[in-house]
Amino acid sequence: MMFNRVAIIGLGLIGGSLAAAMRARGLATTIVAGARSERTIERGQLLGLIDEGSTDFAEAVRGADLVFLAVPVSSMADAMEKMAPGLTNTVIITDGGSVKGKVIEAAQQALAPHISRFVPGHPIAGKEKSGVDAADATLYENHRIILTPIAATDPQATEKIRALWQAVGAEVLTMEPQEHDRILAETSHLPHLLAFSLVNTLARQDDSLDIFRYAAGGFRDFTRIASSDPLMWHDIFKENRDSVLRSVDLFQQGLNEFRKAVEQGDSDALLTIMTQANSARAHFLALSARTSYTAAQQLNDHSNTKASDKTAMSNTASGHDRRVEFHLQPGGSLNGTLRVPGDKSISHRSIMLGALAEGTTEVEGFLEGEDALATLHAFRDMGVVIEGPSGGRVRIHGVGLHGLKAPSSTLYMGNSGTTMRLLMGLLAGQRFASELTGDASLTRRPMERVAKPLRSMGANISTNNGTPPVQIHGGSPLKGMHYDMPVASAQVKSAILLAGLYAEGETSVTEPAPTRDHTERMLAGFGYEVIRDGATSKVRGGGKLSACQLEVPADISSAAFFLVGASIAKNAELLLPHVGINPTRTGIIDILKLMGADITLENQRDAGGEPVADIRVKSAKLKGITIPAELVPLAIDEFPVLFIAAACAEGDTILHGAEELRVKESDRIQVMADGLTTLGVECEVYDDGIRVRGGQYGGGEVQAHSDHRIAMSFAIASLRANAPILIHDCANVTTSFPSFAELASAAGMNIRVEQD
Ligand code: S3P
Repeated sequence: MMFNRVAIIGLGLIGGSLAAAMRARGLATTIVAGARSERTIERGQLLGLIDEGSTDFAEAVRGADLVFLAVPVSSMADAMEKMAPGLTNTVIITDGGSVKGKVIEAAQQALAPHISRFVPGHPIAGKEKSGVDAADATLYENHRIILTPIAATDPQATEKIRALWQAVGAEVLTMEPQEHDRILAETSHLPHLLAFSLVNTLARQDDSLDIFRYAAGGFRDFTRIASSDPLMWHDIFKENRDSVLRSVDLFQQGLNEFRKAVEQGDSDALLTIMTQANSARAHFLALSARTSYTAAQQLNDHSNTKASDKTAMSNTASGHDRRVEFHLQPGGSLNGTLRVPGDKSISHRSIMLGALAEGTTEVEGFLEGEDALATLHAFRDMGVVIEGPSGGRVRIHGVGLHGLKAPSSTLYMGNSGTTMRLLMGLLAGQRFASELTGDASLTRRPMERVAKPLRSMGANISTNNGTPPVQIHGGSPLKGMHYDMPVASAQVKSAILLAGLYAEGETSVTEPAPTRDHTERMLAGFGYEVIRDGATSKVRGGGKLSACQLEVPADISSAAFFLVGASIAKNAELLLPHVGINPTRTGIIDILKLMGADITLENQRDAGGEPVADIRVKSAKLKGITIPAELVPLAIDEFPVLFIAAACAEGDTILHGAEELRVKESDRIQVMADGLTTLGVECEVYDDGIRVRGGQYGGGEVQAHSDHRIAMSFAIASLRANAPILIHDCANVTTSFPSFAELASAAGMNIRVEQD
């Protein structure tokens, strides 16, 4: 038993819910309430929340080893004084007051002998309803509790309170009391004040009845919190006066700017305010949950549909734990026409160059996946107005090469290595400083490969032992240079060329093997001269980009899953329309053809500077091959699914020269080898590759290690498995191919997605 005798002082929604939650989980032998009225105690007993109660608080806390103070903040001092005579000298005391400064002051006075065992706390949870009858055993599940221990607090007491809240399903954070009061003033007290004020202002109008009769969802959403307990909020506004006033002033400034933009019909200002707000919200949801933008958004939408009253902070509480699993039944086939989403590499670059161009760039076929959205949000954070994406359309109001603004906080790149590396190059040339960070996988990936050559151009960049966060100190003039890349990486090449736009003189990069050339092609499409001479690309600083229309082809890296899928499945025939077949990306087709695949390119054409085709693929008998070294960089993202093709081929497939796979979103050699071994495929791992023996294989549980391409590859493996496959950790499929499961299932695969 966690506690023997627990006293809850104040048996309303907050106190009653903790009693209910402790009851439901068997965390206390006896629960006693201290309440002002006998009736509350009777209700508490009747509802089964408490065993006994008293209106005398000293009596209520006698013998308790835990006291939870859940009275309104304005009654805290009084309640503390009243209960003090009954406290033992080992009792741990905590509270649920939403303003910490005042409560701590009161405790220092009234609970002086017990102050080392007082752990100030604030559960970020509530409902519009109050009182003991609203008590809810699940109120704290997936909600945040902020503990604000002071210097005198015994860390052991804090740990016991942390364990208590965790045991009732909450997530516990700690922070300084002053910081708590400031943050809460901005994120909770200000919005409540605004909601009360808006409803009250409108209600005083002559036509108020009409307003309420015709008010739609927006009004209801915005004012929902004006139904909260006035008495409680009265106390909060009084007790947290200074912080509340500061945030009202801040808001008033923002409102004045907004008003001015409306008054002057200033479209640019209006769009800037609103797109930045969109972006800030997405950023905030994703960053606080350390998850992807869509995951955070889904979580937020989901929690908004529940009636429970949550602050914005708690909406994202469990984001980082989002579980997505793919469940696959063996067999199935793939037939029909399947349009895969837009190219990820080209989508990133469309935002970057569109933002730096003069004029408005219109993009069609934009990939609405996490990685490309991370790029879009980063540019919004730097003041670029971007409309959309909506149905793959994006309009970017370019600000010119020198028009980006300093972001107000760290730029969050989620899972996207391309965003981070290309932005490093681009930001190295700016006058302002910036910091780039990302999710757990991205913060493990090497960034010195970009930072080092940029430093030789004069940039001032620091990494954290080679990995993110990356700080770009800004304001350092760049000088053009020649760089011989030691690794064949399009990201490194692109970062240097983008820095070259800002450098004095000429910047050139030579690659050891051909890598994707979308940056070079797109720069040319925006009217910026790029000189290409064999393996070398050159730009000269000081030019300008002119806005254009872009059409993003379907991503061959996403099509790759279905090229392999239809090749290995029985009786399959798929048509994949409008796929990009840039020769720096078609290694997958060449390798599959060498293995015996039946793939034909139809209707080859040009789409905005990139070659595209409709690709037809049919079932084929594959054979193992040794993958030619020159094809490795041209199929760099497709190896996970190529290993699945290898597992279905006759004989061995051998890959060397692919050490880069070890530093992708996961170590793709080891992670694939582990999963293949689980399925019963024989393989041998090398430092720079793998040997996969083809044949029959079974099913089992495999880990995707948060790597989108690993998840999708093992899903494709089910087409030839002879038992079900369960794939864990698939949430990041949204980075490049949000509709993967839906399309795979429509074409004939037996895939089911489970998530919470
Ligand atoms: C990309 C380049 C490749 C690729 C990545 C996208 C790009 O990375 O793996 O998915 O858009 O430039 P490297 O440059 O590290 O090989």
